[in-house]
Amino acid sequence: MIKRKALKYGVFEDIETVRRYDKETRKWMRNTSKTFVSMVKKWQMNENYVLDVGTATGRLAIEFSKKIPTLEVIGLDLAEVALVVARENVQKSEIPLNISFKKGDAEDMPFEDSIFDLVISNNTLHLIKNPLKMFNEVHRVLKPTGRFIITDYKRSWLGIFWNHIRASYSLKEITDLLNQSNLQEWEVKESLLSLNIYSKV
Ligand SMILES: C[S@@+](CC[C@H](N)C(=O)[O-])C[C@H]1O[C@@H](n2cnc3c(N)ncnc32)[C@H](O)[C@@H]1O
Repeated sequence: MIKRKALKYGVFEDIETVRRYDKETRKWMRNTSKTFVSMVKKWQMNENYVLDVGTATGRLAIEFSKKIPTLEVIGLDLAEVALVVARENVQKSEIPLNISFKKGDAEDMPFEDSIFDLVISNNTLHLIKNPLKMFNEVHRVLKPTGRFIITDYKRSWLGIFWNHIRASYSLKEITDLLNQSNLQEWEVKESLLSLNIYSKV
């Protein structure tokens, strides 16, 4: 297995990079969100409070809010510049969205205990300095009946070509971290490029 190499900069710092990221990932995020939304629909979560960790420009959070308008969604990110674009994206929406954004660290979330029904996060875990802290924060802010969907890249030989893959975790590393964490009743499914962590129903 290729050795993990953390990225030097995991948090967006300038608005040009954020706008470029937003443009490049817009279509892809629409597809990614379909998987998330279909799971949540299956779980019949309607009037629920949802947290998107590492929301960046809010694309996943916005799709959630559009597809299940009864949800109240909040996006968390450490980069204020990303949240500026996220708020612009909400303003461009043709339908009103029940959504807000907050600056904060996934390792030390600015929320009270047990308030969310669902925590989602996409392609962010590999950027977090201490993912165990993030898992424990997800557990803390979730209600006892709360659920989570955390997806990220999976480290593989493809990391030779792309530094985000190289900075990601292997299935064993993630499983070990989850075992050490306060999260319970989880399962991890892997695909060629990704690791998908779900709460077991
Ligand atoms: C690669 S982007 C993924 C964004 C989005 N979830 C998506 O799927 O397109 C990762 C985001 O995580 C944010 N981030 C990195 N470290 C963070 C931390 N410790 N707490 C909160 N957000 C963080 C970055 O600023 C960035 O916006």
